Amino acid sequence: MVGGLTLDNLLVKRNVIDNVGFIKINNPPVNAMSVNKGVPQIILDSLKIYENDSTIKFIVILGEEKLNFSGGADISEFGKPTDSGKANLRDLINYLDKINKPCFAIITGPTMGGGLELALGCHFRLADQSAKLALPEVKLGILPGAGGTQRLPRLIGVEKSLHFMVDGSVINSKTAKNLGIVDELIESKNDLDIKKIILEKFNDKKFIRVSEKEINTANLENNFFSNFKNSILKKKRGFPAPFAIVDCVEKSTKTTFSEGMKFERQEFQKLVDSVESAAQRYLFFSERSATKMHPPIEKNMDDIKTISILGAGTMGTGIAISFMKAGFNVFLFDKNKTNLEKSEKNILNILNGMLMKNKISEIKLNELKENISFIDNIEEIGVSDLVIEAVFEEFEVKKEILSEVNKIVGKKTIIASNTSTLDINNLSEFVDEPQRFLGLHFFSPAHVMKLLEIVKGSKTSLPVLNTCIKLAKKIGKVPVTVGVCDGFVGNRMIHRYLKEANHLLEEGALPKDVDDAIEEFGFAMGPFKMSDLAGLDIGWAIRKRRKKNNLDTHKYSNIPDRICEGGDFGQKTGRGYYDYSDGPRDPKPNKITNQIIISESDALNITRRSISNKEIVSRLMLSLITEGLDLLDENIASRPSDIDVIYSYGYGFPRYRGGPMFHANTIGVEKIVSEIEEFSKLPNCEHWKIGNRLLKIKNGEINFI
Ligand code: 3HC
Repeated sequence: MVGGLTLDNLLVKRNVIDNVGFIKINNPPVNAMSVNKGVPQIILDSLKIYENDSTIKFIVILGEEKLNFSGGADISEFGKPTDSGKANLRDLINYLDKINKPCFAIITGPTMGGGLELALGCHFRLADQSAKLALPEVKLGILPGAGGTQRLPRLIGVEKSLHFMVDGSVINSKTAKNLGIVDELIESKNDLDIKKIILEKFNDKKFIRVSEKEINTANLENNFFSNFKNSILKKKRGFPAPFAIVDCVEKSTKTTFSEGMKFERQEFQKLVDSVESAAQRYLFFSERSATKMHPPIEKNMDDIKTISILGAGTMGTGIAISFMKAGFNVFLFDKNKTNLEKSEKNILNILNGMLMKNKISEIKLNELKENISFIDNIEEIGVSDLVIEAVFEEFEVKKEILSEVNKIVGKKTIIASNTSTLDINNLSEFVDEPQRFLGLHFFSPAHVMKLLEIVKGSKTSLPVLNTCIKLAKKIGKVPVTVGVCDGFVGNRMIHRYLKEANHLLEEGALPKDVDDAIEEFGFAMGPFKMSDLAGLDIGWAIRKRRKKNNLDTHKYSNIPDRICEGGDFGQKTGRGYYDYSDGPRDPKPNKITNQIIISESDALNITRRSISNKEIVSRLMLSLITEGLDLLDENIASRPSDIDVIYSYGYGFPRYRGGPMFHANTIGVEKIVSEIEEFSKLPNCEHWKIGNRLLKIKNGEINFI
């Protein structure tokens, strides 16, 4: 009989078909297990109803209609008191461990964190092709805290569980079946189809609770867990969660399930209370809010199908790959045939690399190749919905190509510049209908780096902006909208940071002192190794342009110019701040640079002093923070959290510190003000001042974040 009992509730819907009771979670958008709303409580109540109903033999939990199974615990509830009268996810899963009727999880769409832990608490797991499974808590600075660290090793073994939880990676249903997480692959989650499969394949199957399974430790080598920790030491430095996951899994091998659960809870709570997790949770929501400034999309995304990239250099090639991979029709234009051939070769190499790593199939590779055309006749871009110029970073060169594009494409085509420094408003003058013109500032390598600064010119229209934000998400980028100024948000802040790093050299530090301190703080690379890698000539050209246009308002350091004047441009010439004669991975002090540094101190009449790591970190972080505050004051950045998203995705700011603005909030305004006052008294530090916005924060009018 179809239909039968139907008891609707807003958050969880129940219906019964013969002897199968369905519990359908209905908490859009992602079926988060919100305790305060009562989601776990209502599921638990539903289980009790079906348990006490003698006509029901099987219980099925799934997402309502088009909804996924569950995206896990409600992240916004962490660190806040929850309604203690209501059941939480652990209470619900504990109940599943006691219930005496077989319970099935129908895994569809994102099934993550607590959502997957709920499925692990069920007795059987069925998944369709839409399923995306993960225990991604590690990315929020926490660990699977609803039994995941204790159940998964019992189900798929210790080593596989560790990799799955420590990486937080997402797998599909086939991989989950191969791993043993999923029992059966299904085609649809239609009630009747599910009932049919249950009766055919699980009717007489004895169910075993995962918590009652034995953990297989026979193949674990001695010191397995400490060796595992050592293997992740470098990559996960500064993040407490991965190491706590290892501890929990180790515990699962050494004690009972219930003792393991107690240990997991205790470790989970420590992490939830940590500043590192608060920072990562803040970034989760910041990344999403960065796309939400504007009114709803007015231009339909389906309008954007064909994209032309102008300039087949490193940037153009990377941008082309990003769109091609997402299935767009791409034209890559360059006047120079050799550039085009080189770019085509690079793209093929990258695709082949993806094939080798099993990231794409051979069929997909051929499909992707079909998506891109390499053209040297610019007239062919006429059919484009979006054109992005990525030609040489010179105003005149960009002016020429934009004027040409303007003549070729239709009036509705969106036109963008990938400039990292030039004024978008000035460039918009070469485009009729400048409301369709904006900056799309990709970061190198553009097919890898997730950050995209979307630069809103004074005339850019909101529909154009919104279309590009949506487009960016579609190609897997993290878009942040910024206003027009020299360097936009990210680079303007980095210029100030680099200047301060050079002032530290003038006062007594050497490049390695500064880099070591910043790397210990959590950056993958200090400012001088980063500059050497990027090429010192690039910064030199920018400084010359800034000087020429009177854009340099902050105290200047001559050191980087003097290094460049001697022909040392960093890794590409074998010498820069460091000497790379023993290879790029082995930077040694560069005697010539060190002499330049000392002679600059003399020229400035500075008695060199030893500078502590604490002062180095503090001055460099405060230079980012104060520039960030200025950008907010000038409305170039819309929100403090936008700055943090830019820094975490584009500049390697340690995620567990949240970004410059979150970090400022962690330090506190009193300390920041007193440090700036102290710095301002040092020789060579007259540029340290308390800005407008900091003063407002000090007076309690606004906050850092
Ligand atoms: N809690 C609260 N809100 C959540 C959420 C969650 N677990 N997951 C997503 N959201 C919110 C987002 O903030 C966003 O809200 P907004 O529209 O107001 O900005 C909305 O749901 C939609 O999210 P996305 O824009 O990210 O939607 P996508 O379709 O692109 O992605 C997703 C869906 C893959 C589920 C993605 O949202 C995601 O990765 N979510 C986080 C999953 C996760 O980390 N789960 C573990 C939670 S911690 C846990 O379970 C602890 C347990 O072990 C005890």
